[in-house]
Amino acid sequence: MTERAISKVAVIGTGVIGASWVSNFLAQGLSVGATDPADGAEARLRAAVDAHWPALTEIGLAPGADRGRLTFHPTPEAAAEGVDLVQENGPERVATKRTLFAALDEAAPADAIVATSTSTIMVSEFQDACTRHPERVVLAHPFNPPHLIPLVEVGGGSATAPEVVARAIEFYRAIGKHPIHLKREARGHVSNRLQIALWKEAFHIVQSGIASVEDVDAAIAHGPGLRWALLGPFLNIHLSGGPGGIRGLLEGPLGAATTGMFGELGQPTMDQALIDQLSEGVAEELAAHDVEAMIETRNRLLVELVRDKAAARVLP
Ligand SMILES: NC(=O)c1ccc[n+]([C@@H]2O[C@H](COP(=O)([O-])OP(=O)(O)OC[C@H]3O[C@@H](n4cnc5c(N)ncnc54)[C@H](O)[C@@H]3O)[C@@H](O)[C@H]2O)c1
Repeated sequence: MTERAISKVAVIGTGVIGASWVSNFLAQGLSVGATDPADGAEARLRAAVDAHWPALTEIGLAPGADRGRLTFHPTPEAAAEGVDLVQENGPERVATKRTLFAALDEAAPADAIVATSTSTIMVSEFQDACTRHPERVVLAHPFNPPHLIPLVEVGGGSATAPEVVARAIEFYRAIGKHPIHLKREARGHVSNRLQIALWKEAFHIVQSGIASVEDVDAAIAHGPGLRWALLGPFLNIHLSGGPGGIRGLLEGPLGAATTGMFGELGQPTMDQALIDQLSEGVAEELAAHDVEAMIETRNRLLVELVRDKAAARVLP
């Protein structure tokens, strides 16, 4: 595969994630060809881009950033014509991904990268639907909302060429994302596996009566979550470990006491009673709050945090 600069991208599926990617790519000065078969999809997409634009302007638009660089196409094939990279964000079903990737394989230029945002499907489950160029199919899993959250998890399936993964990582880094490399496929990738591990114990804590929904939320949002927004689990252990750092902590009594608790973590039963308990707990937490205002405030604080964190430069 020859190297090509990435200036024109296709976004396939413009729901929650696709629309956010479109905004992100436009803000980075790229041309975007989008498609989505839903009624009214183009109008919804343009409204979403307009809604995202003030935050992207605050974060900083790249030279050439222009909402006029968005075109909308009737089919994935038309959107993928002549592009340098495809970002697929269709429904989370293997059969749909297979159909879409077979079409994109035919339509995208041979040297274009074809990426999927899938959260739970592995590239190897649909890559063989690409009979021409399976080697350029990669995972590029963002975190919602992708126009604000820097993380992108990048990896390949069994037939992906390592140099395509490397090019994809380079591309996402160049447009201001923070890519991480998956050395092998794992369902749920990395960040969602970590989230799910936390959810599992959070559900167990509520179900077994250790603490309320509200207090579990507070235990993260007013506690370790504040540090986790700045540094990951290993660096947080290291910085809390005193002069010995992570080694001293893990080799010492606190490390042994903590890792000795692995077997204490619970296995919640996902029954209707637990779903009701969690839903009612969240409703109680939200009783005095306006959800739309909460989302707006969360997104505003996210923008400030991402911007301040990038400016601080001492954090990895
Ligand atoms: N929602 C999240 O938090 C999140 C985060 C990261 C990744 N993802 C992944 O992103 C993808 C999209 O998720 P979403 O949350 O945006 O879903 P969504 O339901 O909001 O959007 C899916 C869009 O795909 C469109 N669509 C249906 N058939 C299509 C087709 N044949 N071709 C093109 N588009 C088609 C739908 O009309 C819809 O607009 C999924 O693979 C999901 O796993 C989701």
